[in-house]
Amino acid sequence: MALNLIYTQNYDHMSKVAADILLSDMHQRTIAEKKDFNLGLATGNSPVGLYSGLSQNQEHFDALKISTFNLDEYVGLPGNNLEERAAHQESYTRFMKENLFDKLNPKLGWTFMPPATWIDQLALDRFLEETPGIIYEGADKGKAIVIPDDCENNYLSTIKRLMQNYINLIEDADGIDTWVVGVGGKGHIGFHESGIPLNHDILLVKLDENTIQNAVADGHFKTYEESPKYAISMGANGICRLSKNILLLASGERKAVPIARSLLEDTTSEVPISILQQFAKQEGKNATYIIDSAAAAGLEGKFYELRKKGIIVEDLRYF
Ligand code: GLP
Repeated sequence: MALNLIYTQNYDHMSKVAADILLSDMHQRTIAEKKDFNLGLATGNSPVGLYSGLSQNQEHFDALKISTFNLDEYVGLPGNNLEERAAHQESYTRFMKENLFDKLNPKLGWTFMPPATWIDQLALDRFLEETPGIIYEGADKGKAIVIPDDCENNYLSTIKRLMQNYINLIEDADGIDTWVVGVGGKGHIGFHESGIPLNHDILLVKLDENTIQNAVADGHFKTYEESPKYAISMGANGICRLSKNILLLASGERKAVPIARSLLEDTTSEVPISILQQFAKQEGKNATYIIDSAAAAGLEGKFYELRKKGIIVEDLRYF
């Protein structure tokens, strides 16, 4: 229905604007209407300030009425079993506990993560290599690993089944009211990497080298070798099909090119977040970009182009 673009001054301002929007929706639904609210969540640096805004204002919503569903989780974190991998310093499961879940009292109703930490990367590598019929989809270095329906390997067909269960869970919950998302270096959403066809609901992904390098550059892992090589992620289609609202946060220069491309060019799998242009044309669906000045650098002087595309621009940089 609408694609909104809000320019903010800097990271803190972006986080505050996003928290105000989300808190107002969560308040309306869980306190005024006393109904449930399904919240989609992302990890990374972008939403940390927003999560802190939510936990500092928890009297504005009824946490027990909120269920959360995360976008993605690494496969390949060090650890001998599911518990050790989920507890790893860099797991998204732990990130969510530290940045939001454990700061709320009462706790959220339900919290769900994609089923990734039970997978052992060495076993996955071995089974992918020795099992016939696996398809790798993607025009760039990140690939969707498509496991066939009649896969003869039990481990791989279990992964496929668990991924489908995650989608079923969201469908049974009646979809996501608002999904908070960030943006990767090449414009990926979740771990739906650049070049992967946009029609996937959920993905087992072989990560792009650029994504792994950024994880090392951002200090999450010491070396390229240590960094996980796979993930389970919501696919661009699944996010759009199952959400009513999407709040996209982007801060810093690294985001300037993917942000500009996603808004000014046509939808392309090269820049997966560009799917939000299609998403926002649908009845009852809204996408809102909340970006800071550095992430907006590629949109300088493009005001009329954005307007012509029907994008509603709000500039809060000078207030
Ligand atoms: C990772 C996550 C994405 C996130 C991206 C950007 O790739 N899988 O969901 O959007 O990082 O992270 P940051 O917000 O730290 O720039």
